[in-house]
Amino acid sequence: MKTYKKDELDNIRRAGEILSRALFAAKNKVAPGVSTLELDAVAEGVILEHGAEGCFKGYRGYGFVSCISVNEEVVHGTPRADKVLKEGDIVSIDVGVRYNNFCADASRTFGVGQISNSAQKLIDVTKQCFVEATKTLKAGSHVGEIGRNVEYYIRHNTTYGILTNYFGHGIGRNVHEEPLIPNFVPNVPQLRAVARKKFPENTVICIEPMICEGDPTTKTKEDKWTVVMADGKLSAHYENTLIIHKDGVEVVTDKFI
Ligand code: MF3
Ligand code: CO
Repeated sequence: MKTYKKDELDNIRRAGEILSRALFAAKNKVAPGVSTLELDAVAEGVILEHGAEGCFKGYRGYGFVSCISVNEEVVHGTPRADKVLKEGDIVSIDVGVRYNNFCADASRTFGVGQISNSAQKLIDVTKQCFVEATKTLKAGSHVGEIGRNVEYYIRHNTTYGILTNYFGHGIGRNVHEEPLIPNFVPNVPQLRAVARKKFPENTVICIEPMICEGDPTTKTKEDKWTVVMADGKLSAHYENTLIIHKDGVEVVTDKFI
Protein backbone atom coordinates (compact mmCIF):
# COMPACT_ATOMS: atom_id res chain seq x y z
CA MET A 1 0.00 0.00 0.00
CA LYS A 2 1.24 3.44 -0.93
CA THR A 3 1.69 6.11 1.72
CA TYR A 4 1.89 9.85 1.05
CA LYS A 5 4.04 12.71 2.34
CA LYS A 6 2.86 15.99 3.87
CA ASP A 7 2.92 18.06 0.64
CA GLU A 8 1.27 15.23 -1.30
CA LEU A 9 -1.47 14.96 1.33
CA ASP A 10 -1.99 18.74 1.08
CA ASN A 11 -2.72 18.36 -2.64
CA ILE A 12 -5.18 15.56 -1.88
CA ARG A 13 -6.84 17.80 0.74
CA ARG A 14 -7.16 20.60 -1.81
CA ALA A 15 -8.59 18.19 -4.42
CA GLY A 16 -11.08 17.05 -1.79
CA GLU A 17 -12.13 20.58 -0.90
CA ILE A 18 -12.74 21.51 -4.54
CA LEU A 19 -14.65 18.26 -4.99
CA SER A 20 -16.86 19.07 -2.02
CA ARG A 21 -17.65 22.49 -3.51
CA ALA A 22 -18.54 20.82 -6.84
CA LEU A 23 -20.86 18.32 -5.14
CA PHE A 24 -22.52 21.13 -3.18
CA ALA A 25 -23.13 23.12 -6.37
CA ALA A 26 -24.51 20.06 -8.18
CA LYS A 27 -26.80 19.28 -5.24
CA ASN A 28 -28.26 22.78 -5.40
CA LYS A 29 -29.15 22.19 -9.05
CA VAL A 30 -30.99 18.92 -8.35
CA ALA A 31 -34.71 19.42 -9.17
CA PRO A 32 -37.45 17.87 -11.29
CA GLY A 33 -36.84 18.66 -14.98
CA VAL A 34 -33.03 18.88 -14.73
CA SER A 35 -30.97 16.43 -16.81
CA THR A 36 -28.02 14.48 -15.42
CA LEU A 37 -25.83 16.09 -18.10
CA GLU A 38 -26.69 19.53 -16.65
CA LEU A 39 -25.58 18.33 -13.20
CA ASP A 40 -22.27 17.14 -14.67
CA ALA A 41 -21.76 20.56 -16.28
CA VAL A 42 -22.31 22.32 -12.94
CA ALA A 43 -19.73 20.10 -11.24
CA GLU A 44 -17.24 20.57 -14.09
CA GLY A 45 -17.65 24.37 -13.93
CA VAL A 46 -16.68 24.46 -10.25
CA ILE A 47 -13.72 22.09 -10.76
CA LEU A 48 -12.25 24.10 -13.66
CA GLU A 49 -12.87 27.42 -11.91
CA HIS A 50 -10.58 26.23 -9.09
CA GLY A 51 -7.71 25.22 -11.36
CA ALA A 52 -8.41 21.49 -11.08
CA GLU A 53 -9.65 18.87 -13.53
CA GLY A 54 -12.07 15.95 -13.46
CA CYS A 55 -10.08 12.76 -12.84
CA PHE A 56 -12.77 10.40 -14.19
CA LYS A 57 -12.60 12.14 -17.59
CA GLY A 58 -10.33 10.10 -19.84
CA TYR A 59 -10.23 7.18 -17.36
CA ARG A 60 -10.68 4.10 -19.59
CA GLY A 61 -12.26 6.41 -22.15
CA TYR A 62 -14.89 7.83 -19.76
CA GLY A 63 -16.20 11.21 -20.97
CA PHE A 64 -17.42 13.13 -17.89
CA VAL A 65 -16.29 14.56 -14.54
CA SER A 66 -19.09 12.73 -12.73
CA CYS A 67 -21.04 9.50 -12.69
CA ILE A 68 -24.74 10.15 -12.07
CA SER A 69 -26.97 7.23 -11.20
CA VAL A 70 -30.75 7.47 -10.75
CA ASN A 71 -32.98 5.09 -8.71
CA GLU A 72 -32.13 1.47 -9.69
CA GLU A 73 -28.90 2.69 -11.29
CA VAL A 74 -26.32 2.27 -8.54
CA VAL A 75 -22.94 3.52 -9.80
CA HIS A 76 -21.10 4.66 -12.94
CA GLY A 77 -24.22 6.19 -14.52
CA THR A 78 -23.24 8.23 -17.58
CA PRO A 79 -24.64 11.79 -17.60
CA ARG A 80 -27.18 12.25 -20.42
CA ALA A 81 -29.23 15.15 -21.79
CA ASP A 82 -32.22 12.80 -22.08
CA LYS A 83 -31.97 11.47 -18.52
CA VAL A 84 -34.26 14.00 -16.81
CA LEU A 85 -34.91 13.94 -13.05
CA LYS A 86 -38.47 13.73 -11.77
CA GLU A 87 -40.11 14.26 -8.39
CA GLY A 88 -39.52 11.28 -6.09
CA ASP A 89 -36.31 10.04 -7.79
CA ILE A 90 -33.10 9.51 -5.88
CA VAL A 91 -29.89 10.52 -7.63
CA SER A 92 -26.32 9.70 -6.73
CA ILE A 93 -23.63 12.10 -7.91
CA ASP A 94 -20.08 10.71 -7.87
CA VAL A 95 -17.29 13.17 -8.67
CA GLY A 96 -13.52 12.78 -9.12
CA VAL A 97 -11.08 15.73 -8.96
CA ARG A 98 -7.37 15.94 -9.78
CA TYR A 99 -5.39 18.88 -8.35
CA ASN A 100 -1.61 19.14 -8.93
CA ASN A 101 -1.57 15.46 -9.96
CA PHE A 102 -3.41 14.22 -6.85
CA CYS A 103 -6.94 12.81 -6.78
CA ALA A 104 -10.02 12.80 -4.58
CA ASP A 105 -13.26 10.88 -5.20
CA ALA A 106 -16.63 11.23 -3.42
CA SER A 107 -20.33 10.60 -3.90
CA ARG A 108 -23.66 11.52 -2.32
CA THR A 109 -27.22 10.36 -2.98
CA PHE A 110 -29.95 13.05 -2.97
CA GLY A 111 -33.72 13.03 -3.19
CA VAL A 112 -35.43 14.92 -6.03
CA GLY A 113 -38.25 17.05 -4.53
CA GLN A 114 -40.41 15.01 -2.14
CA ILE A 115 -39.27 11.41 -1.82
CA SER A 116 -40.82 8.45 0.01
CA ASN A 117 -39.87 7.64 3.60
CA SER A 118 -38.43 4.34 2.42
CA ALA A 119 -36.18 6.04 -0.14
CA GLN A 120 -34.99 8.52 2.51
CA LYS A 121 -34.24 5.63 4.86
CA LEU A 122 -32.10 3.93 2.20
CA ILE A 123 -30.11 7.17 1.72
CA ASP A 124 -29.64 7.63 5.49
CA VAL A 125 -28.60 4.01 6.09
CA THR A 126 -26.06 4.17 3.24
CA LYS A 127 -24.43 7.23 4.83
CA GLN A 128 -24.48 5.52 8.22
CA CYS A 129 -22.59 2.57 6.67
CA PHE A 130 -19.76 5.00 5.93
CA VAL A 131 -19.85 6.27 9.52
CA GLU A 132 -19.78 2.71 10.89
CA ALA A 133 -16.89 1.84 8.57
CA THR A 134 -14.73 4.69 9.86
CA LYS A 135 -15.61 4.60 13.58
CA THR A 136 -12.66 2.49 14.72
CA LEU A 137 -10.38 2.97 11.70
CA LYS A 138 -6.77 4.09 12.24
CA ALA A 139 -3.23 3.14 11.25
CA GLY A 140 -2.76 -0.57 11.96
CA SER A 141 -6.43 -1.43 11.31
CA HIS A 142 -7.06 -4.33 8.94
CA VAL A 143 -8.76 -3.63 5.58
CA GLY A 144 -11.36 -6.22 6.63
CA GLU A 145 -12.49 -4.11 9.59
CA ILE A 146 -14.38 -1.84 7.15
CA GLY A 147 -16.49 -4.58 5.57
CA ARG A 148 -17.05 -6.24 8.92
CA ASN A 149 -18.49 -3.05 10.41
CA VAL A 150 -20.66 -2.28 7.35
CA GLU A 151 -22.04 -5.80 7.14
CA TYR A 152 -22.68 -5.99 10.89
CA TYR A 153 -24.66 -2.74 10.81
CA ILE A 154 -26.71 -3.74 7.75
CA ARG A 155 -27.50 -7.26 9.01
CA HIS A 156 -28.54 -6.09 12.50
CA ASN A 157 -30.55 -3.02 11.52
CA THR A 158 -32.01 -3.51 8.03
CA THR A 159 -33.13 -5.99 5.38
CA TYR A 160 -31.03 -4.25 2.71
CA GLY A 161 -28.39 -5.83 0.50
CA ILE A 162 -24.74 -4.84 0.08
CA LEU A 163 -23.17 -4.89 -3.38
CA THR A 164 -20.38 -7.46 -3.46
CA ASN A 165 -19.00 -6.87 -6.96
CA TYR A 166 -17.94 -3.22 -6.50
CA PHE A 167 -15.46 -1.96 -3.89
CA GLY A 168 -13.81 0.99 -2.26
CA HIS A 169 -10.15 1.52 -3.13
CA GLY A 170 -6.87 3.25 -2.45
CA ILE A 171 -6.41 6.65 -4.15
CA GLY A 172 -3.65 9.25 -4.56
CA ARG A 173 -1.74 9.84 -7.77
CA ASN A 174 -4.30 7.58 -9.45
CA VAL A 175 -8.03 7.42 -8.84
CA HIS A 176 -7.84 3.67 -8.26
CA GLU A 177 -4.93 2.28 -6.26
CA GLU A 178 -4.42 -0.73 -4.00
CA PRO A 179 -6.07 -2.08 -1.95
CA LEU A 180 -9.59 -3.10 -2.98
CA ILE A 181 -11.89 -2.36 -0.03
CA PRO A 182 -14.92 -4.68 0.25
CA ASN A 183 -18.01 -3.41 2.10
CA PHE A 184 -18.73 -6.93 3.35
CA VAL A 185 -16.94 -9.91 4.88
CA PRO A 186 -15.45 -11.69 1.87
CA ASN A 187 -15.44 -15.45 1.45
CA VAL A 188 -13.20 -15.84 -1.61
CA PRO A 189 -9.49 -16.45 -0.89
CA GLN A 190 -8.18 -13.46 -2.88
CA LEU A 191 -10.39 -10.95 -1.01
CA ARG A 192 -9.81 -12.66 2.33
CA ALA A 193 -6.09 -12.08 1.81
CA VAL A 194 -6.78 -8.38 1.08
CA ALA A 195 -8.89 -8.14 4.25
CA ARG A 196 -5.92 -9.25 6.37
CA LYS A 197 -3.71 -6.37 5.17
CA LYS A 198 -3.09 -3.50 7.58
CA PHE A 199 -3.27 0.19 6.75
CA PRO A 200 -0.02 2.06 7.40
CA GLU A 201 -0.14 5.68 8.59
CA ASN A 202 -0.71 8.20 5.73
CA THR A 203 -2.55 5.78 3.46
CA VAL A 204 -5.33 7.43 1.43
CA ILE A 205 -8.49 5.48 0.64
CA CYS A 206 -12.07 5.80 -0.60
CA ILE A 207 -14.78 4.06 1.38
CA GLU A 208 -17.93 3.76 -0.69
CA PRO A 209 -20.81 1.61 0.53
CA MET A 210 -23.37 0.70 -2.16
CA ILE A 211 -26.62 -0.45 -0.54
CA CYS A 212 -29.79 -1.78 -2.20
CA GLU A 213 -33.40 -2.49 -1.23
CA GLY A 214 -33.50 -5.84 -3.00
CA ASP A 215 -31.06 -8.46 -4.24
CA PRO A 216 -27.47 -7.18 -4.72
CA THR A 217 -27.09 -8.65 -8.23
CA THR A 218 -26.24 -5.99 -10.82
CA LYS A 219 -25.97 -5.73 -14.60
CA THR A 220 -24.32 -3.18 -16.88
CA LYS A 221 -26.35 -1.17 -19.39
CA GLU A 222 -25.71 -0.93 -23.16
CA ASP A 223 -23.57 2.20 -22.62
CA LYS A 224 -21.02 -0.22 -21.02
CA TRP A 225 -20.82 1.98 -17.89
CA THR A 226 -24.11 2.40 -16.06
CA VAL A 227 -24.50 -0.29 -13.37
CA VAL A 228 -28.14 -1.10 -12.49
CA MET A 229 -29.78 -3.43 -9.99
CA ALA A 230 -30.91 -6.55 -11.86
CA ASP A 231 -34.22 -6.58 -9.92
CA GLY A 232 -34.89 -2.89 -10.71
CA LYS A 233 -35.12 -1.90 -7.04
CA LEU A 234 -33.64 1.25 -5.44
CA SER A 235 -29.97 1.57 -4.53
CA ALA A 236 -27.83 4.29 -2.96
CA HIS A 237 -24.13 5.20 -2.81
CA TYR A 238 -22.08 7.29 -0.35
CA GLU A 239 -18.35 7.84 -0.69
CA ASN A 240 -15.56 9.92 0.82
CA THR A 241 -11.80 10.10 0.41
CA LEU A 242 -9.94 9.92 3.71
CA ILE A 243 -6.42 9.92 5.11
CA ILE A 244 -5.53 7.29 7.70
CA HIS A 245 -3.66 8.75 10.68
CA LYS A 246 -2.16 7.25 13.79
CA ASP A 247 -5.25 7.96 15.93
CA GLY A 248 -8.08 7.95 13.41
CA VAL A 249 -9.13 9.21 10.00
CA GLU A 250 -9.34 12.61 8.31
CA VAL A 251 -12.14 12.87 5.75
CA VAL A 252 -11.08 15.31 3.00
CA THR A 253 -14.25 15.46 0.86
CA ASP A 254 -16.96 16.50 3.35
CA LYS A 255 -16.25 20.18 3.96
CA PHE A 256 -19.37 21.55 2.25
CA ILE A 257 -21.61 18.51 2.01
N1 MF3 B 1 -16.13 6.53 -7.75
C1 MF3 B 1 -16.00 5.62 -8.83
C2 MF3 B 1 -15.23 4.42 -8.39
O1 MF3 B 1 -14.50 4.51 -7.45
C3 MF3 B 1 -15.28 6.19 -9.98
C4 MF3 B 1 -15.97 6.08 -11.25
S1 MF3 B 1 -15.08 5.24 -12.46
C5 MF3 B 1 -14.85 6.35 -13.72
O2 MF3 B 1 -15.34 3.36 -8.99
F1 MF3 B 1 -14.55 5.70 -14.78
F2 MF3 B 1 -15.87 7.07 -13.90
F3 MF3 B 1 -13.83 7.11 -13.41
CO1 CO C 1 -14.44 5.57 -5.74
